[in-house]
Amino acid sequence: MHRMKVLGLIALAAVSLVIGILIGRFAITHPQLSWLKRMSKDGDPKYSRQLHQEIQAEEIHKNLQFFSSRPHIAGSFQEEEVLVNYINNKWKSSLHGAKIYNYTVLLSYPDANDPNYVAILSENGVESEVSDKVEKILSPDQNDSTVVNPFNAYSPPGVIVGDPVYVNYGTVEDFQYLTRDLAMNLTGTVAIARYGKIFRGDKVGNGEKFGCAGMILYSDPADYVVGSLDKVYPEDWWLPGTGAQRGTVLLTNGDPRTPFYPSTNSAFYLDEKDIELPKIPVTPIGYNDAVKYLSKLSGIEAPSKWKGNLNITYRIGPGFASPYEKSKMKLYVKTHNVQRTIRNVFGFIEGEYEPDRYVVLGNHRDAWVFGAIDPSSGTATMMELTRALSKLLQKGWRPRRSILFCSWGAEEYGLIGSTESIEELGKVLGSRAVAYLNVDLSLAGNSTLRALATPILHKLLYATAKKVENPNPEEVRAGRKSVYDTWVKNQPSSQDPNLPRVGELGSGSDYSSFLQILGVSAADVRYNYDQKYSLSSYPMYHSVYETVDLVSRLMDRGFYYHQAVARIWGEMALRLADDVILNFDCVQYAETLQRIVNEVQSSYGPKLLQNNITLNSVKEAVGEFLEAAKNLQSRVEKVNRENPLEVRKINDQLMQLERSFIDPLGVAGNLHYRHVIYAPNEHNQYAASSFPGLASAMFDIENDPNQERRWQQVKKEISIIAYTIASAASTMQEHGTIGGGSTKH
Ligand SMILES: *[C@@H]1O[C@H](CO)[C@@H](O)[C@H](O)[C@H]1NC(C)=O
Ligand SMILES: *[C@@H]1O[C@H](CO)[C@@H](O)[C@H](O)[C@H]1NC(C)=O
Ligand SMILES: *[C@@H]1O[C@H](CO)[C@@H](O)[C@H](O)[C@H]1NC(C)=O
Ligand SMILES: *[C@@H]1O[C@H](CO)[C@@H](O)[C@H](O)[C@H]1NC(C)=O
Ligand SMILES: *[C@@H]1O[C@H](CO)[C@@H](O)[C@H](O)[C@H]1NC(C)=O
Ligand SMILES: *[C@@H]1O[C@H](CO)[C@@H](O)[C@H](O)[C@H]1NC(C)=O
Ligand SMILES: [Zn+2]
Repeated sequence: MHRMKVLGLIALAAVSLVIGILIGRFAITHPQLSWLKRMSKDGDPKYSRQLHQEIQAEEIHKNLQFFSSRPHIAGSFQEEEVLVNYINNKWKSSLHGAKIYNYTVLLSYPDANDPNYVAILSENGVESEVSDKVEKILSPDQNDSTVVNPFNAYSPPGVIVGDPVYVNYGTVEDFQYLTRDLAMNLTGTVAIARYGKIFRGDKVGNGEKFGCAGMILYSDPADYVVGSLDKVYPEDWWLPGTGAQRGTVLLTNGDPRTPFYPSTNSAFYLDEKDIELPKIPVTPIGYNDAVKYLSKLSGIEAPSKWKGNLNITYRIGPGFASPYEKSKMKLYVKTHNVQRTIRNVFGFIEGEYEPDRYVVLGNHRDAWVFGAIDPSSGTATMMELTRALSKLLQKGWRPRRSILFCSWGAEEYGLIGSTESIEELGKVLGSRAVAYLNVDLSLAGNSTLRALATPILHKLLYATAKKVENPNPEEVRAGRKSVYDTWVKNQPSSQDPNLPRVGELGSGSDYSSFLQILGVSAADVRYNYDQKYSLSSYPMYHSVYETVDLVSRLMDRGFYYHQAVARIWGEMALRLADDVILNFDCVQYAETLQRIVNEVQSSYGPKLLQNNITLNSVKEAVGEFLEAAKNLQSRVEKVNRENPLEVRKINDQLMQLERSFIDPLGVAGNLHYRHVIYAPNEHNQYAASSFPGLASAMFDIENDPNQERRWQQVKKEISIIAYTIASAASTMQEHGTIGGGSTKH
């Protein structure tokens, strides 16, 4: 190096030292300035490392043993007293506070002394091939007197006798095939539908619409078993023939007696006869029973796509074949509705600088039976995360923003706890919640991360997954050191294979009301099984066999996958709570909107054009949105972090962006779903639709006798989308834009 340069550097260092000391002194004598300095810094990375270390797999295992030791269905003593008090006490003693919220709501149970069943009823009234009334106990840990027998919540009670008809998955298309292609009249029949593909409530809704008198839901091995039927639980994690999937068939969210208002002491309860409840009796059975009925059906052979993996010829019916041709299917359902009190527990960590901004984390607590996967694998993880964060608090960490933990009740019945709280606290959460991070179950399998989120959170998800150690030693040996590495390899995005796939949020869990009613940006994460298995869900879903034995022996030996989920959840929370500027990616939102428009253009474009309709207004709005997003992004990069008002202003714009996609009138008039870009698919609540209002207007449009009305509807939906995107764009602009004000003063 040149000598002069070296001397110059020494001189520079000396000057810097003096300036440094001066700044230090100045800061000490001016505490306000040092406070501003501290407030302008992101969280110390040491706390992230400490959090990862503090989260213990063995602690999660212990939690799971506790939470899934007894059945804890919504409304039960175990659920609403034992578990609620446990969580409340833990959080009261380790966080800054905890509170229990109570709601008296409509639930539904089978009759413990008079179980539901199905059977073949002969001409002279003799029942045969009666289905199991209880799920067979396969090991002593399932033997508990409080197990609730298989049922579908909110089914009306009733005894139905009718001709059986096999309806495949019970989708609209399946029913259309029967009634249009086969010209069948389904009035008065008993539909036998297999679980899978769509939300079970939609199956029942379709059955009702197409005239069925009742429905039997069963799990076909094609959707819940891979390999031989002798290698199922307890030997392997596949569903045994005695397992039946419980689950709600309610099509709305929240207490059905108080739609859009909380079921608190002041609530006005609608009469049961005036509310939207399923109208046909329905109950679930296992495949050991289903095969007895399906094998005896008459009628034509089912199309190949309708065939499951039972060793029979699948037929459609209606009715039974000889010698049962005079027999009927009998459905005996004693399920009934009951008013009960359910509880949410909130735990609170108060933020240091922005305590009125909440990063919200939630998991539901209620299970159909033991719930060792759904939801207690998530509860066990949440309790370990709060324990680890309480240790950080002891070590001096204090988040910039507040963190709110929610243990929701009665999710399984129809997102009831979370929806009631959003109704009660919506004004507060709607104005203060930064984001909602949901973990329902921690794992459905141990192959890869599976994440759902709105586009604004994708970037944060990637960054988080890169920071979390891969829990699979084989994957680490193969060079994939982080959760991200396996994720991007197993689940590459279809747009860009260098990025992992992030799915869209349907209405499968408690994020629904946050996103769809309040417009709070949301994400949902879990570990998932390998997608090479075309399973409809993890095999033991909502059966009595979802026990800690299943999880600890066959799905996550050592609990390292749970640990990874806790770290992902915690790391995301830490970033959202501690970063000065929210790590929200508005440009990604713009790019996603462009992609959706392109997809919509290629699927509907020609049909729209035939009717002289274009998507030009939407494309224009997306263009404005992209420009505004880039503009906001560049202001984010230039923001003066030491000016708390400027920081707050930018953060408010980022945080409010999702809110601007909410249409208070609901998507296509459905007030449960108000997000104009994403809402649950009208025919399958589990899945999400992009531009759901337009999707709904276009669905099966050819067969609508009133073409003019339908195309008017299409035009209206396109206009709503264009308007909404343009208004969202305007929220990202500088303050002066609205009044034509100049930024020069
Ligand atoms: C909810 O009920 C529990 C148990 O009865 C009670 O301790 C608690 O104070 C109630 N919470 C509220 C907010 O009313
Ligand atoms: C379940 O437990 C009860 C009471 O302990 C016992 O009588 C019964 O035999 C057990 N059933 C099974 C299938 O293990
Ligand atoms: C179907 O059958 C029922 C009676 O079983 C009858 O009332 C109804 O009109 C029929 N529907 C059609 C479309 O034929
Ligand atoms: C399927 O059923 C047929 C006829 O009942 C029987 O011969 C065959 O062994 C069965 N296959 C399996 C795999 O059970
Ligand atoms: C992961 O799950 C598979 C079943 O899909 C199971 O065979 C395997 O043992 C599990 N791994 C661990 C570590 O539990
Ligand atoms: C579309 O516009 C063309 C030209 O203006 C017109 O001839 C045609 O009838 C229109 N089609 C429809 C479906 O309105
Ligand atoms: Zn769940």
